[in-house]
Amino acid sequence: MNEKPTIGVFDSGFGGLTVLRALISRLPHARYAFLGDTARLPYGSKSRRTIARYATESARFLVHEQGAEFLVIACNTASALALDAIQDAVPVPVLGVIEPGAAAARAASRTGDVLVIATDATVRSGAYTAACKAHGLRAIEKACPLLVPLVEEGWIGPPVFPEAGTVADAAPSASANPQVAVTDRVIRFYLGELRAQAAAEGFHPDTLVLGCTHYPLLRPLIEKAVSAGVRVIDSAESTAEAATHLINGRANLEEDATGALISLGIDDLDPERKRAGDNTEVHCFATDSVDKFERLGSRFLGLPVGKVQLVDLGG
Ligand code: DGL
Repeated sequence: MNEKPTIGVFDSGFGGLTVLRALISRLPHARYAFLGDTARLPYGSKSRRTIARYATESARFLVHEQGAEFLVIACNTASALALDAIQDAVPVPVLGVIEPGAAAARAASRTGDVLVIATDATVRSGAYTAACKAHGLRAIEKACPLLVPLVEEGWIGPPVFPEAGTVADAAPSASANPQVAVTDRVIRFYLGELRAQAAAEGFHPDTLVLGCTHYPLLRPLIEKAVSAGVRVIDSAESTAEAATHLINGRANLEEDATGALISLGIDDLDPERKRAGDNTEVHCFATDSVDKFERLGSRFLGLPVGKVQLVDLGG
């Protein structure tokens, strides 16, 4: 792998930018190619076969046309339904978000009972239930199909990122912003149903996994809506951590004065390092809605996304 590796990051839309952000924090000295398959979003309502076709086409674009040497599938839906297909389709290491998400749940949960919110397709696949079970956890999964469109429309208020401090305290005000109020009501509806199901099944959940990479953008609202004592976790941070270990392992590089390929936890980073370094290159691609990507992408990434290039991956 090159000293400055090209890392491909893929999602159906903007949500994967939450994973890209976490990756840049840990691996600033890299070239990133991010693809949002916005023309074919949402993946979450589609069949395994269709998701696998879309995801493998996207993966091939990043590897064969952008030179990605390592691929992060920053989409739970594609990770849950198409990880094997993607691994078969490209000759580079591929990391999905489900296993890091389950590992983070294991680290967070004391009761061993976790709740997962995700897209319809992810829930139908049972991937989180299986991954959690492998970690000795019981899981209940709930599909929340309205949340991705609300995020893609930007009905989220100002995004708040983990390093900004207590996320719930910074939740956008639902009373002051009518769009945020709609999103808040939808979140509370889904969580209410999930709470009722957990109680009916005798669960004692203490952890809620955001099983869709769009949902961290709703984290402040979700944290305000969960029951007391329930910790909200997402797989962006744990996926970035896993990617860092894998890439450092492969490259076998030591920390050096240029900051090349270092492996640090986010809390170890000084504020300067939490921003993209001079050596970070981010190239964004989308299959549609380039203007919207440029408008909303920087808010989601917390860094300028620059000029987003339109790519055509077919129908
Ligand atoms: N961000 C994707 C995920 O993590 C899903 C969005 C979609 O439905 O396309 O599951």
